[in-house]
Amino acid sequence: MKNTQFLFQIHYLISPTMKSVSQLNSMQSRSLLHTCLPLMNKKTTRIDSNEEQLHMKIDNKQSKDYMMHHEIYSEKELNDIKITHKKFESWHDRVAFAAVRTMRFFFDTFTGYIHESSTSKSDKIIKTMTEQQWLRRFIFLESIAGVPGMVAGMSRHMKSLRTMKRDHGWIHTLLSEAENERMHLLTFLELRQPGYVFRGFVLLGQGVFFNAFFLTYLLSPQICHRFVGFLEEEAVITYTRCIENLDAGKLPAWRNLPAPQIAKNYWKLSNDAMIRDVLLVIRADEATHRQVNHKLADVGPNAPNPFLIQTTETQTPPSIDEQQEIDTANKN
Ligand SMILES: [Fe+2]
Ligand SMILES: [Fe+2]
Repeated sequence: MKNTQFLFQIHYLISPTMKSVSQLNSMQSRSLLHTCLPLMNKKTTRIDSNEEQLHMKIDNKQSKDYMMHHEIYSEKELNDIKITHKKFESWHDRVAFAAVRTMRFFFDTFTGYIHESSTSKSDKIIKTMTEQQWLRRFIFLESIAGVPGMVAGMSRHMKSLRTMKRDHGWIHTLLSEAENERMHLLTFLELRQPGYVFRGFVLLGQGVFFNAFFLTYLLSPQICHRFVGFLEEEAVITYTRCIENLDAGKLPAWRNLPAPQIAKNYWKLSNDAMIRDVLLVIRADEATHRQVNHKLADVGPNAPNPFLIQTTETQTPPSIDEQQEIDTANKN
């Protein structure tokens, strides 16, 4: 793979106009456009940046793996993740939040989640979640979390086909979110293999949630992205609580547990990375999804995707060697 330099251009189009749409379309026709999941408002390239002490090794070349674009975080970014909550601004937001709370109730019940309040002054002994209970929760959570990005991406893809109009760059962002959530699931599956009953509930949950989300997406993409934004707020809370428990010594089996290899490969973690490092990058991913989905709900389904990366690498003609590689009919 050739050395590649990226030019990042993040378009925050607060009030999109027809002019900005046509500018974007002409830009798309000149170069490849990739979407990204920027954690926060990054306006400059970070791959060439040496300004941060990176916790993880970052390859200065374009990633050689086949995965879609995903964030690789610095230590500062990982530790800067905060629990946030977006204020309601419309009835859409209230509907979305009510749906998240309802879903969370069933979720907590099924996964046996015990919310431990740090402000509790009660003398009674508070039960804490064990490592196995956390894993059960994470696996079920992530099996559901991978659905919205795929459904939303698929819906926009289908809409683009049937209306014969451009999508304005949303599809890649949504599909890469779905893949990212699936990687969370695959990581936790390295630590626990669920039984048949659990898999049955996952099957049931996916059947219900996929269809409900799909139908709602057809009616109101805005509610759906707000819903995911609120859901990711909850995910950040859950992973923050787990990291706090780990730091407080309440999860002894994970104190010296190495990170699964799949996680080291995907997030480019160092060889000596531990499970805590994995929890930190997953929490950062959830914060990224939170940011992206709230923003997508804000701009509305007809605006260009505010999260775009433009790369200077266009499709160059193949070299002589590359042509010879596929010219097998003329090989001796
Ligand atoms: Fe996740
Ligand atoms: Fe998520």
